[in-house]
Order: sequence, then structure tokens, then C-alpha cells
Amino acid sequence: MKRMSTATVKHPRDVSKPLSGNKHLLRWVEKMAELTKPDSIYWVDGSKAEYDTLCAQMVQSGTFVKLNQDLWPDCFYARSDAGDVARVEDRTFICSLSKENAGPTNNWENPHEMRRKLKGLFSGCMRGRTMYVLPFSMGPVGSPMSQIGVQLTDSPYVVVNMRIMARIGLPVIREIDKDEKRVVPCMHSVGAPLAPGQKDVPWPCNREKYIVHFPETREIWSFGSGYGGNALLGKKCFALRIASNIARDEGWMAEHMLIVGVESPTGEKTYVAAAFPSACGKTNFAMMIPPPGFDGWKVWTVGDDIAWIKPDAEGRLRAINPEAGFFGVAPGTSEKTNPNAMKTLARNTIFTNVALTPEGGVWWEGMTEEPPAECLDWQGNRWTPQIGKETGRKAAHPNSRFTAPAAQCPTIDPAWEDPEGVPISALIFGGRRATSIPLVYQAFNWTSGVYMGATLSSETTAAATGNVGNVRRDPMAMLPFCGYHMGEYFRHWLNMQKSIKILPRIFHVNWFRKDEQGGFLWPGFGQNMRVLRWIVDRAHGRALAQETPIGWMPGYDDIAWKGLEDFSRETFEKLQAFDRDTWHKEVMGHEELFISLHSHLPPEMVYERELLICRL
Ligand code: GTP
Ligand code: SPV
Ligand code: MN
Repeated sequence: MKRMSTATVKHPRDVSKPLSGNKHLLRWVEKMAELTKPDSIYWVDGSKAEYDTLCAQMVQSGTFVKLNQDLWPDCFYARSDAGDVARVEDRTFICSLSKENAGPTNNWENPHEMRRKLKGLFSGCMRGRTMYVLPFSMGPVGSPMSQIGVQLTDSPYVVVNMRIMARIGLPVIREIDKDEKRVVPCMHSVGAPLAPGQKDVPWPCNREKYIVHFPETREIWSFGSGYGGNALLGKKCFALRIASNIARDEGWMAEHMLIVGVESPTGEKTYVAAAFPSACGKTNFAMMIPPPGFDGWKVWTVGDDIAWIKPDAEGRLRAINPEAGFFGVAPGTSEKTNPNAMKTLARNTIFTNVALTPEGGVWWEGMTEEPPAECLDWQGNRWTPQIGKETGRKAAHPNSRFTAPAAQCPTIDPAWEDPEGVPISALIFGGRRATSIPLVYQAFNWTSGVYMGATLSSETTAAATGNVGNVRRDPMAMLPFCGYHMGEYFRHWLNMQKSIKILPRIFHVNWFRKDEQGGFLWPGFGQNMRVLRWIVDRAHGRALAQETPIGWMPGYDDIAWKGLEDFSRETFEKLQAFDRDTWHKEVMGHEELFISLHSHLPPEMVYERELLICRL
């Protein structure tokens, strides 16, 4: 088939004409173009027509495959470079003026050195490409809790993904122009300049990657990757690493948390936020469907990854989801595990690194019980169940993802875009732990809850490059995302207590405890509603619990079992069991983290540890 030239897909306006009159912004764009030397500059207006045009261009260039429109209306498919499939934590830097402020859990380099390095890397890095000027708002446009950024990027893939993940374009420019507002500059390049006449590849990137944050000047510089959190700079770089700095300075919190509203049969609505590490179940929890036996209960989705939380005038915590879409893990997502996600991603969705079926559909491990007889895997190679069995190769990359508009979620909360946010009654921490950690327990108070979050641990997942399955401390699920010293972050959590009059209750969960045969003890997914209901009831002070050395725990009879009556008391006791010797070892792990943070560790954390040891 003959290829159309890209010239056949035209933009209806002069895209190089600046859409903003903001002098700082215009000067910065000009300066960055001088540095990176793009062929052209493109001001993103955020319209659907523009999105369609960019997608069509990417179909022509080979970056996108348009999926079968009968099966997947308005959906596209992309395959990344095999070396650009996840966040790169070892290439992520917090370049504060002093190394001390970044703390031992972040990579640090002298900001002057780093600036010099970046100048070299970005010099001419957009040659042969278009530089897109992409204004975006994290949070509803105009909300007092929102923040504005402008990303300069040479990746149209990033532009269309950002249109789903954030509010972008003209409405944001109007905000910027209102009062010469300060925006967070986000510089991004895939780091693959094109020589004259050089043919582009479907997924340009650079082997050398730098994801750099300057917390004092609130700047982001990302080089070499086009994937996920490395490249969609509004997400982890801005909404967590830079925002955690802004939040500390301004007295609020930027957290790696989902937000849900739980509606009871009487119509009572209770909002809960939960921090689980990457690929540990936030999206699934955020879209939970109550199981049989929970007639009249409903779970509403506000967000699945990030929460910005601030005390309101009454001293109650209010949270917004700064994002507008879901960048969700594909493998494991199915009609059985997460039907709401399946409905959300049924149209207007971009799939990256899943498998492509001969019908022009997508597939991933766990999507259906029966794999397709044949498909192309995430690298474009022929894959059959037999090949999978023989080689161990997966059809979809374990960190393959869908980018889908939040508004399409059937359970999206009516208040999900409320500029004031939703009131939070409970906070949950959870990790992926095969042993030792009970299904659910509650902290005694705010300080012990902060300790609970600070000592959170989880097995590493495919969301970041590196080994999978190693237990590591992941405080508040923020280890890769806290933009300053982790000890100071604990102190900020403790300090927040002073401005919160109605303190949310704090809980710990673990859906991933295994039996001797290696099977999950807990059915998880929708069944997590049983745990969530106990949490909500506890938050309202009406469910029973038993005191244990690690916190308040439900007994078997404190959980609603209707619809799952055959779940045995014995299994539940196995799930909730805590062993003193194992926990003594856990506490050693807490100590290890604390020693590394000692110079900035709040003394309360040490007292809490001592109290825990005494109770054990
Ligand atoms: P990020 O987007 O990386 O921050 O991840 P996330 O926390 O949103 O993770 P997600 O909900 O996408 O879950 C990741 C994996 O965990 C998927 O493969 C799910 O199938 C699996 N998972 C989620 N909830 C449960 C559960 O309750 N039990 C079990 N066993 N697995 C679960
Ligand atoms: C995570 O890794 O926690 C994610 C995916 O949510 S990414 O946007 O790539 O960071
Ligand atoms: Mn995440």
C-alpha cells in the first residue's frame, strides 16, 4: 500500500502563532527553541480536531496503529522502544541546592553541574522535529487547588496522551494570561534529533535518560524517554515531586493516592484516600464494584493515582484528583477483576505495549481466560500461547498501559471535578507483601498512622525498571516520588495534624498475603469492599475492633460476610495473624530506614518505634 505523505494531514490554523501573550512564557519558549533547535514550533490548543490530526499524523508516521473501529472506536495502539518501557528511578534526580535537602532516598547532583549537563544534552536535541508548546492544568482549570505547567516536548505521542491525562490548551492559556501567572516549566525531549533526510523510527528515544527536578526553582527537565511518568511530566514529575515541595511550603499534601467515595444504602457518602505503591492495586480499588451481598452500596471514583489534599476552613481535609485520565496497568485488567476499567478503556483510549490481535484489537495477559490463538506481542513479534509457554515470553509487557479519559469511567464521582475537592474521612496505606503483614489494621492515632505510612513496605513491580519482587521500604508509597528529604516529609505529615481539626482515621491493608502453596489468601478486587466497609464504619466510630500490638484489628465477626459465607474463620485468622518474631524483624527494617534518615528524622518516629517494640 502506498503511504500518504504527512503533508496530507493538515492543521486548520497557523500553529506556530503564539496562543499566549504572557511575556515570561514567550521568552522561555524562544530561549528553549534556541537551545534545542526544532524545525518548527507548535502551540497546542487542546481541541479534539487537533488531537485527531496529531493521531492521524502518527498513524502515517508509524508511531500509532489505528485499532479496528468496530471493536475499539477511536482507539490507538503504540509500541515503545524495548528499552523505554517504565519509569527509570536510577535516572531520576532531585537537584536541590544542597544534597541534604534531597535526602538519601533520592539521586542528587549539584544543580550547577546538572544544568551544564542538560544544556549539552538539550543542545540541538530537537533538530528535525517539532517543538510542541503544551500548557496544562493539574486539577480543574481555575480551582484554587490547581497548578499550571507548560511542557515543551518534541513528542506528539506525549501531546495526545497529555490531552487525556490533564486539562490542556486554550482554557489553560486563558488562566496563564489572566495575571501573568507563574507556571512550572517542563522541558521534555525524547533526545533523538533527525539529520536532514533521516527517516524517523516509530518510537524515538535515547539510551541515556535524565529525569531531573529543580525543587527550588520548580523546574522539570526530562531527556531520552517517551514513556509514562518519564515523559508525561504533569504526572509524577509535577503532581508529585515538584508538588510535594510546593505542598510542604504551603501546608498541604501531594500524595500517591487514589480517592473513592463510598455510598451506603442510606445514602451516606464517605470519601477515602489510599496510598499503594506502583502497580499495587490503586486503579482496581478506585473502580471497585461491591460484591453480591452489598445491596445498596456503591463505590464512586474520584482518582486512581494522585491526590492533592488540603485542610479547608473548617479544618477538614479536602482532596482533588489533579489528573483528568487514567494511565492504568493493562495486565490483569478484565471484565472479572475490573469491569469499570474495561468500560472506561473501551473507546478514546491509547494502548501502549499491549499485544495486537489479527482483527486489529488489543490483548494482554489476564484480559480473557483464553488467550488469542495468535497475535503480535508488544515488540511486534508473532506470539501464540504455545510460543508463550515454550519461551516464557509475555504477549503484553508487564508494564503495558492504557491512557483513558476519567470522564468515561461508569463510576466517576459526580464531585470528581469539584474545585473545592471532596472531604476525606480515612487514609489507607497498603503494600504488596506475600508474608507477615495482615489484611487490615488501624493505627491508634495520627502519629502512629504516620509511623504506619512511613514504614510501609512492598515488593517491587514492573512499573519501574529493575528487579521485580524485592521487598523494599516505600514510605507512604512515595519513595520514587517525594521531591525532598524523606525525614522532612515525615515531619510535614506530623505537622499537618496541627491544621487538621477533623482528623481522618488511618489504616493499613495488604491484599497480597500468600498461603504455603503460593496462592493468595484473600480473593481481593471487589471483595476488598468487605475491608473498605469496616474501614468506613471505623471512620464513623461504629465498628468493633480488637487492640493488638500493631493496631486495631477486626475479628472475623466484625467483617460483613454476606455473599461470601464460605470464607472460613481459619483463613481469615491466617490473613490477620501477626507473629512477634517476624514483626521484630520488620521493626529492624524500620530501623534501617530510620538510620538512613537520622539527620532529619522526627523524634516522634523513634518514640513510635519504641512503643511498638514495647507492645511486641
Ligand atoms: P500505578 O498506576 O503503577 O500507580 O498502579 P496501581 O496501584 O494503580 O495498580 P493497579 O490497580 O493497576 O494494579 C496492578 C496489579 O495489581 C494488576 O495486575 C492487578 O490485577 C493487581 N491487583 C489489583 N488489586 C488486586 C487485589 O485486590 N488482589 C490481587 N491479588 N491483585 C490485585
Ligand atoms: C506509577 O509507576 O506509579 C505510575 C505509572 O502510575 S507512571 O506514570 O509511569 O509513573
Ligand atoms: Mn502511580
